[in-house]
Amino acid sequence: MSLLEGKIGLVVGVANKRSIAWAIAQAWRNAGATLAFTYQGERLKENVEELAGAFGPDTLLLPCDVTRDEEIAGVFAAIAAKFGKLDLLLHSVAFAPRDALEGSFVNTTRDAFRVAHDVSAYSLVALARGAAPLMTGGGSILAMTYYGSEKVVPHYNVMGVAKASLEASARYLAYDLGPKKIRVNCISAGPVNTVAARGIAGFGDMFKHYEARSPLRRNVLAEELGATGTFLASDGAAAITGQVLYVDCGYQIMGM
Ligand SMILES: NC(=O)c1ccc[n+]([C@@H]2O[C@H](COP(=O)([O-])OP(=O)(O)OC[C@H]3O[C@@H](n4cnc5c(N)ncnc54)[C@H](O)[C@@H]3O)[C@@H](O)[C@H]2O)c1
Repeated sequence: MSLLEGKIGLVVGVANKRSIAWAIAQAWRNAGATLAFTYQGERLKENVEELAGAFGPDTLLLPCDVTRDEEIAGVFAAIAAKFGKLDLLLHSVAFAPRDALEGSFVNTTRDAFRVAHDVSAYSLVALARGAAPLMTGGGSILAMTYYGSEKVVPHYNVMGVAKASLEASARYLAYDLGPKKIRVNCISAGPVNTVAARGIAGFGDMFKHYEARSPLRRNVLAEELGATGTFLASDGAAAITGQVLYVDCGYQIMGM
């Protein structure tokens, strides 16, 4: 039997075919899951519609700007109506104003700090709260994070601080939701060439640096993130919660 046969998953964060969320969605689908997707506003609707369309008529497509509580509520109401339950949730969403990812961290404005944390970290809490009542048979919640949460990565700036908040939020959620057999984990990915990544000044250098310095001497592939996402969503990971799993070709172990 396929690893995720019979599971219903919600994928938040597909913008286009390069999105990490799309790689994980494909892997979940190939493992047998039925999926719902959200898109951030009309601008991205067509992209997501085209990609998700390949998954057939069972696939739900819903608008969700994660800063809007009413849209989050609408997503879970629609999932409840169509499927009556939820097993998997992928949070693959981040944003900070471009200025905040270019200059010095010390110049982060109050507004950029607020927006980065609202979109990139609080959204996990809001989505988990909406998902939990539907995860009646237990569940797996995954969030995408990056190493800039624990070490200084030049230009990553306020996004690093927001990722630290995201990872801590995942731990507190894991504690709260554990009694309901809902697991919450983060995948810390090495650099992948996506729209969000290209918003970080010096991303090209980061990409080359990983290739040169990581133990595996290469960058992670999107399909490898899909495979890890499938593992964490599956019963093979039934005793794993509150963790940050590095899928970065080993870069995180290096001191120099
Ligand atoms: N690409 C990398 O190198 C890398 C590495 C580690 C972690 N990540 C993380 O992976 C996740 C996905 O990013 P990606 O690299 O696939 O880029 P991406 O641009 O394809 O995805 C980012 C997604 O965030 C969504 N988003 C932003 N603001 C939103 C809002 N207000 N409401 C709803 N959705 C919103 C966008 O619509 C988009 O779908 C992010 O959390 C990112 O920080 C990326």
